[in-house]
Amino acid sequence: MTELLDAAASGALDTDEGLRAQADRLAADPRAEDVIAAFFEDWLDLDRLPIVSRDTTEYPELTTTVREAMAGETRRLVNDLAASGATISDLLLARHSYMTDGLATYYGVSPGTGEADAEGFRRVSLDGVQYGGLLSQGSVLTTWALSASSSPVHRGLLVREHLLCQDLPPPPSNLNTSPPPVDPSLSTRERYATHATEPVCQSCHRLIDPIGFGFEAYDGVGRFRTMDGEHPIDATGWIEGSVSSDGEFDGLMELSALLATSPDVQRCYSRVWFSYAAGLYEDAGLTCDAVAVADSFAPGGMPLTGPQEALLVSQHLSVRAGEATTDLDTPALGDRLPLDELPEDTGDWGEASSAEGNVDFEIVINSDWTAGYCADLYVTNNSDLRVTWEVRTRLSGTPYTVWSSQYSEEADGTDVFIGESWNNTLDPGGSTQAGFCANR
Ligand code: HEC
Repeated sequence: MTELLDAAASGALDTDEGLRAQADRLAADPRAEDVIAAFFEDWLDLDRLPIVSRDTTEYPELTTTVREAMAGETRRLVNDLAASGATISDLLLARHSYMTDGLATYYGVSPGTGEADAEGFRRVSLDGVQYGGLLSQGSVLTTWALSASSSPVHRGLLVREHLLCQDLPPPPSNLNTSPPPVDPSLSTRERYATHATEPVCQSCHRLIDPIGFGFEAYDGVGRFRTMDGEHPIDATGWIEGSVSSDGEFDGLMELSALLATSPDVQRCYSRVWFSYAAGLYEDAGLTCDAVAVADSFAPGGMPLTGPQEALLVSQHLSVRAGEATTDLDTPALGDRLPLDELPEDTGDWGEASSAEGNVDFEIVINSDWTAGYCADLYVTNNSDLRVTWEVRTRLSGTPYTVWSSQYSEEADGTDVFIGESWNNTLDPGGSTQAGFCANR
């Protein structure tokens, strides 16, 4: 601490080199491991691992000791990889891990042979087994599952929202979205495949469930399986509607391989680090910086600690907001774009109409990833008549999935939304919510 204050007083922190030197010194401190571990907990919600509820009849083997060992495993792997300069791709494809002998037995893999650390963890080679990489860790698989089963929806959302940074809106409150009941005559995959055959569900769930199916070879507490009850596992799936990660895969190892070289994942990882380190949530300027940093590395090639150094020398830490700076005229890596060049959250879009009365609407973008966005569409009936609504507007880009409304584009490019049978008419003062995701 004194050293840092001295460096600041001497002016050493005024240069990028000076900042980097101090950052390297702090990163070498053993306490930096806590920061990396805390980041991963935050990013993947692993702080829920000790408390996620699990059916003790279905999963009696998931003891507190096992949960703690899973957390210890992830902590050791990410710290080991971060310290050795490994990349985001190395993390997703790692062929080794750190386990207590008890955890190895729990997973059904051979315990490590090297020396154990103070808490009993040894390095374990994962060559030739169905584990390997961040997403196959028990901590991740257990956190993202249901009490008595796996969960294609939650595991699909983990990838869609936390690795691809594409947030989906929650299901509309007037739909029944309780999980399909456990039914021994169907596999988990089959139960979920049928729940989403309704077009109104598919609009969102085709972006979620097919990714989650890739995790089906792991049960609700992280153990590899070839059967789901009486049903052979089918872990084929696909990603659609991403910026540049679309593709098919069979099983988690192939899904991990797809994500490991994805520019989207690298950008997302960088974005999460930037907002975590800056303590800011979804700041548009921050996102631009984070994406620029990610794109300066080949896909998958960004070091796990890579964005931190770039963040340190970015203007977010060195320039006070509102200060005049002429540098912004020529945006370069790490510069912020002027705010008026960034997409607005809400816009002046077009008009809503009905034959009978006055209808208003608003489009609120709730997730934005440069090449596309998802938005909510709110429609309100301000008249004292019951009306059938229609929204006519000009969107930026073209919707590729739409929910709780029907979309069409007219020959002159006007984008038109009308309601579904259950929300196309609104009582006086009534409102409804629909939404869509679009490519720009
Ligand atoms: C606007 C997008 C959207 C629509 C439309 C939608 N869902 Fe969902 N659904 C989600 C999201 C997002 C979640 C995850 C919520 C969460 O974080 O728990 C979810 C969760 C679920 C879950 C919980 C799964 C679990 O394992 O806990 C079920 C079941 C479900 N939806 C079924 C449906 C069905 C059936 C429909 C159609 C009647 C539907 N959904 C329509 C977005 C949607």
